Amino acid sequence: MNEADALRAAALLESAGLRPVAHADDASFLLLNTCVVRQQAEDKALGRLRHVAELKRRNPDRVVALMGCLVGRISREQDALHGRFPFVDLFLPPSDLRPLQRFLRERGFPVPDDMTHDDFLPPPLPDSQTGRSIVAHVPVVLGCSHACTYCVIPYRRGGERSRPSADILAEVEALASRGVREIILLGQIVDRYGLDRPGEIRLPELLRRTARVPGIARVRFLTSHPRWVTPELIAAVAGTPGLCPYFEVPVQAGSDAVLAAMRRGYTVAEYEALIGRIRAAIPRAGLSTDIIVGFPGETAARFNDTLALMDRLDPDMIRIAKYSPRPLTWSARHLPDDVPDTEKERRRVALEAALRERLTRKHAPLAGQPVELLVETIEKTGRRYGRTPDYKPVFVEGSDAAPGDLLQARLTWAGPFSFIAEPA
Ligand code: 5AD
Repeated sequence: MNEADALRAAALLESAGLRPVAHADDASFLLLNTCVVRQQAEDKALGRLRHVAELKRRNPDRVVALMGCLVGRISREQDALHGRFPFVDLFLPPSDLRPLQRFLRERGFPVPDDMTHDDFLPPPLPDSQTGRSIVAHVPVVLGCSHACTYCVIPYRRGGERSRPSADILAEVEALASRGVREIILLGQIVDRYGLDRPGEIRLPELLRRTARVPGIARVRFLTSHPRWVTPELIAAVAGTPGLCPYFEVPVQAGSDAVLAAMRRGYTVAEYEALIGRIRAAIPRAGLSTDIIVGFPGETAARFNDTLALMDRLDPDMIRIAKYSPRPLTWSARHLPDDVPDTEKERRRVALEAALRERLTRKHAPLAGQPVELLVETIEKTGRRYGRTPDYKPVFVEGSDAAPGDLLQARLTWAGPFSFIAEPA
């Protein structure tokens, strides 16, 4: 989502006549986008911000804009930010570029007035240099209203708002006309698309319509909440050419007690039943999940339940995070952060090692198998890089395919997290 926001900001700046430079120190306009979903991300943003402060000291004429979840959507808090970061000229909430538009216009930059088709984001600019790529992320649900006890997103990105499908599809058409071949529809809970808009279509139909846009070869969607993955959604993915067999469905923990304390709204058995339904309908579906280790009350035994779940689930990727209390969240206010960091780190490493070992074994028999990838980039060494429909990264040696081509290849090497192939 932040990548999508940042590319839109870059496109807006380019439309105003600004051009990218290689080094931050050469920039007359600096925009820093930020994530605060975990303490680590916030620390990284604050570290970068110290560097930006130094750059501003060196050249006070340059404009500094701070964007994203560190800013948030509440203007009362933004006043406090002015005091905290006096060197910042402009504060921008997540996924909302209207203040940047206003700022540029007030300074005489040629920014069109009516760029905003919906309330939240300007559409992509057809002549933008930035983000001209094969794969494009398109936010379709902004914010989130689910009350997972650990999660700061509702406080930073605001409540759930689906964008009108007409705007989304117009944007997809504009992207396709610029050569984009793959669309990834985004939402914090993407499978709730349309539920907050009476009369709007739902995610399965939005996916089908996106896949029908001329030029679009592949469509994905993330991230799904297990409670909202409907039979209609699974059937749409199973039955629509171009809809990739790939699900990102965070489970977060393998213990019912921990899931209840997280207020996730499902049990381990319900989650496993859902994955069973997905795999029954789409045997080759890729599955990616998120896990938080060291949530309050996660005993060693409960963590072992998560390890055991991973064995039964056999996911294709796990994004592992160590729990960190986030401001305003229920868990930060009411639950003691009772797992020491050394133990969180032990659990993170154990889960990562288990995943690496599983994927090494799972992938080994794939060597020699045919795959189709959508070529995204050409590396300096000439290798073509792209992903399979189920989202495995593949590097192809000895191919002259162009970015945007669908390339038939045969795997020659299978690692836990990537593959090497030759043209088939
Ligand atoms: N601490 C650790 N991880 C978190 N995530 C969200 N909030 C927290 C937190 N407070 C993780 C979840 C989510 C992913 C985007 O970040 O696993 O799915």
